[in-house]
Amino acid sequence: MALTTALVTGASSGIGYEISKLLAEQGHDLVLVARRGDRLRQLQTYLQQEFNTSVKVMSIDLTSLQEIDRLYATLQQENIPVDILVNNAGVGNWGAFTAGDPEAQLNEIRLNVVALTYLSKLFTTDMVQRGLGKVLNIASVSGFMPGPYMAVYHASKAYVLAFSEALNVELKGTGVSVTVSCPGPTASEFHQQAGTTGSLFLKLLPMMNSTQVARISLGAMNKRKMVIVPGTFNWLMTQSSRITPRAILLFILKRLMKPVH
Ligand SMILES: NC(=O)c1ccc[n+]([C@@H]2O[C@H](COP(=O)([O-])OP(=O)(O)OC[C@H]3O[C@@H](n4cnc5c(N)ncnc54)[C@H](OP(=O)(O)O)[C@@H]3O)[C@@H](O)[C@H]2O)c1
Repeated sequence: MALTTALVTGASSGIGYEISKLLAEQGHDLVLVARRGDRLRQLQTYLQQEFNTSVKVMSIDLTSLQEIDRLYATLQQENIPVDILVNNAGVGNWGAFTAGDPEAQLNEIRLNVVALTYLSKLFTTDMVQRGLGKVLNIASVSGFMPGPYMAVYHASKAYVLAFSEALNVELKGTGVSVTVSCPGPTASEFHQQAGTTGSLFLKLLPMMNSTQVARISLGAMNKRKMVIVPGTFNWLMTQSSRITPRAILLFILKRLMKPVH
C-alpha cells in the first residue's frame, strides 16, 4: 500500500485522466470519481496492472451535494484518508447567456464552484487535523478575464482562482497547501461538451495536450506553488489581461468569443 492516497475528480477523460495516470506512476493510491463508471473501471484495471497501485472508483454526479456526502462517508467508513485532493471536474457552455439552458448553466456553478468548495471544505479540514496535505484545483486562463458568451464559465473559474489563492494563504503553517492551475485551450472532451469546437478563439489560440497540462500542474502541486499557468503563451495572456484596461479587454473578448452562425 502507498503512503498517500489521492482523490481525483473528473478522472474519466482529459486532464483528470492524465493526472490520475501520473499520480499512479508516482506511487500514490487513488480514488477516482466521475459519472461514467465504465470509463473509470477501465482506467482502474489499467492503473492497477501497470503501476501495482490500489485504485478505488466511484461513479458520482458531483452536482449533487448528497452524492458528495456519499463519497465522503464511504471513504470515512473504509478508513481511506485523502492526502491529495485534485478538484479537476469541470464543464462549460458556449453561447448567448439568455439563449442558454438554465439547468446547464446552473450545473456549471454546481460543479465548478459548489462541488469544488464543498470537497475542499470536507477534505482540507481533515488534512489540517493531520497536519499534511495538498490540494490541486483546476481553474483556467478564463479565470483571469470575463468571457462574453461564456460568462458563467469564466466567472466560475475566477472564483476557483480567487478561492484557491485565499485558502492557500489561510492554510500557511498547517502543512496543507493549495495550488491552482490555469490551463489555456487543451485537447480533451471539454470543447465538444462545451460546444466551442470550431470557434474563432480556438482557431487562434495554441492548443496544449492533456498530458502536458497534467504534468505541469502536478509538478507545481508537488512544489506547493500557489498559481501555475501551463504554457508560455497562456502565461503571457494572463499577464496582459491584468494590465489591459477592462473596457478594451471586454471589447476584444466579445469579438473573439461571439458565436458565428
Ligand atoms: N480543455 C480545456 O481547454 C480546458 C482549459 C482550461 C481549463 N480546463 C478545465 O480542466 C478541467 C478538466 O477538463 P478537461 O479539459 O479534461 O475536460 P473533459 O475531458 O471534458 O473532462 C471533464 C471531466 O469532468 C467530469 N465531469 C463532468 N461533469 C461531472 C459531474 N457532474 N460529476 C462528476 N464528474 C463530472 C467528466 O466525467 P463524466 O462525464 O464521466 O462525469 C470528465 O471526467 C475542467 O475543470 C475544465 O474547466 C479545460
